[in-house]
Parts: sequence; C-alpha cells; structure tokens
Amino acid sequence: MHTPAPATAHDFRDKPAAYAALARDLDALLTGEPDLIANAANTAALIWQALPDINWAGFYFLRAGELVLGPFQGRPACVRIALDRGVCGAAASRRETLVVADVHAFPGHIACDAASRSEIVVPLITAAGLLGVLDIDSPLPARFDELDRAGVETLARVFLRHCRP
Ligand code: SME
Repeated sequence: MHTPAPATAHDFRDKPAAYAALARDLDALLTGEPDLIANAANTAALIWQALPDINWAGFYFLRAGELVLGPFQGRPACVRIALDRGVCGAAASRRETLVVADVHAFPGHIACDAASRSEIVVPLITAAGLLGVLDIDSPLPARFDELDRAGVETLARVFLRHCRP
C-alpha cells in the first residue's frame, strides 16, 4: 500500500525552487493512483499544507455545463458556479489562468469566504476538453504573482498527468 510522505516544509521566499520541490512531492504523492477524486483530495491537502497565506484550495469540476465543487481545504464553499460567473467561471470559459489581485474589484466575484482578498484560478484542460479548475484563495491582497501563476500551473499539470477522469 502506498503511504503518503509527510508534508515537507518549503521556503516560499524562493518561489521557483519551492514550487519545483512541491511539484516533485505532488508527483510522488499521486504516483500509482489514477482516481480523480482521490488525487484531487490529496492535491488540495498538499497545497493547503505547503502554501503560506491561503484560506482556500481546491477543485471545481465541469458537470453538465457548470462547475461543481470538488475536493478542497478551507471553509465550506458554494457548490455550483455557472461558466459566466465568478473568477472560476471566467477562468474556465476563457481557458486561461486568472490571477486576481483584488477580488472585490473583479466583476461577479463570488465571495465564498468574506476573508478572501485575492485569488488564482487555473483551468484544467485535457485532450477531452475542459475538466474543471484549480482554485486558491488568500486573505492577503495581491498574494499571487507571476511566479505563483507558473508554479500553480505546474502543479495543475502534475495533477492532470496522474488522472483518468
Ligand atoms: N471566489 C470564487 C468562487 C469559489 S470560492 O473562492 C471557493 C469565484 O469567484 O469564482
């Protein structure tokens, strides 16, 4: 039986190095397991443990034309998001990563946790099309920069490599 390794502490003062190490941890954690839900749950838990200054990390999956809540860490969240709503819907329909420095200034932002101030949403694209999104929220304004974008996109790629939806 595969036993997950304990979460390693990463020093996010060097973001590229920390994200590279986290991507290796994630790859090791998911290796040998193709189940989408199990891998999404462990991916959310690893991100939650590793990234400083976040208050939500998790997945929404596309189901019959809308995003439906998947495995996550953080406060309970809204379950269904239309593709024309919120940061998640915008990232999913544009099929591009959105880094939002101030969620209050984003038209249509859905406040699942009133403490959230900034957000990054990475669309999950497979050969079969849009699978869903990986969403991370922070209570700090402008928490996520271009290095986070590259790092979280790498984590999303590692996740997708291991999943058979
Ligand atoms: N804020 C998101 C909704 C999901 S929660 O943050 C978990 C949005 O505007 O799409």
